[in-house]
Amino acid sequence: MKIRVRDAHPADVEWMSNNTEGWTVTVEKQEGAASLAEALHALIAEDSDQGVRMGWLHSSLQRAAGGEPDYVRLYELHVSPEFRQRGVARALVDELFARVPDQEILLSAWDRELYGVWLKLGFTYVPEPDEMSGGHSYPGDMVRPPVEASS
Ligand SMILES: CC(C)(COP(=O)(O)OP(=O)(O)OC[C@H]1O[C@@H](n2cnc3c(N)ncnc32)[C@H](O)[C@@H]1OP(=O)(O)O)[C@@H](O)C(=O)NCCC(=O)NCCS
Repeated sequence: MKIRVRDAHPADVEWMSNNTEGWTVTVEKQEGAASLAEALHALIAEDSDQGVRMGWLHSSLQRAAGGEPDYVRLYELHVSPEFRQRGVARALVDELFARVPDQEILLSAWDRELYGVWLKLGFTYVPEPDEMSGGHSYPGDMVRPPVEASS
């Protein structure tokens, strides 16, 4: 299996919508959907030997108010069950991290049960200011801080 990561195209949105846990993906902006039009990077991981799609992610640029720096929201990361634990999520996340070196990436609505997976993928847990240590509810954020300062 050879993993290739590429940009998502309009021809991918039906497959993306059918390979997710509830998200709808559209080409044009649509209420309640993740759209390619609003994406900063929407990526597909495929097995380039077989030409089979295995997973995808959707990210968007969030404009912050009050002089705070803009950041990137990783809205959905999904790998089809038959291709899990073979490095597909890592390939997608590594590509996003490489494309966004100078901004924070915030993981949206992340699954707390996969806490250790996010750390393995390179995210950092940022606790709430008053968070008790040792708990497992993880109310804080999962982020990839900026690697390079933006100019
Ligand atoms: C979470 C998810 C994206 C991981 O995808 P994946 O392709 O299986 O992940 P990878 O193979 O790249 O694994 C990365 C690391 O996490 C580990 N890992 C992945 N899934 C794991 C699991 N369920 N339990 C424990 N470890 C796991 C891998 O072993 C690997 O560890 P390593 O660095 O020591 O080798 C996938 O399980 C999924 O799509 N889940 C359902 C959707 C979901 O929850 N999305 C997140 C909402 S934003």
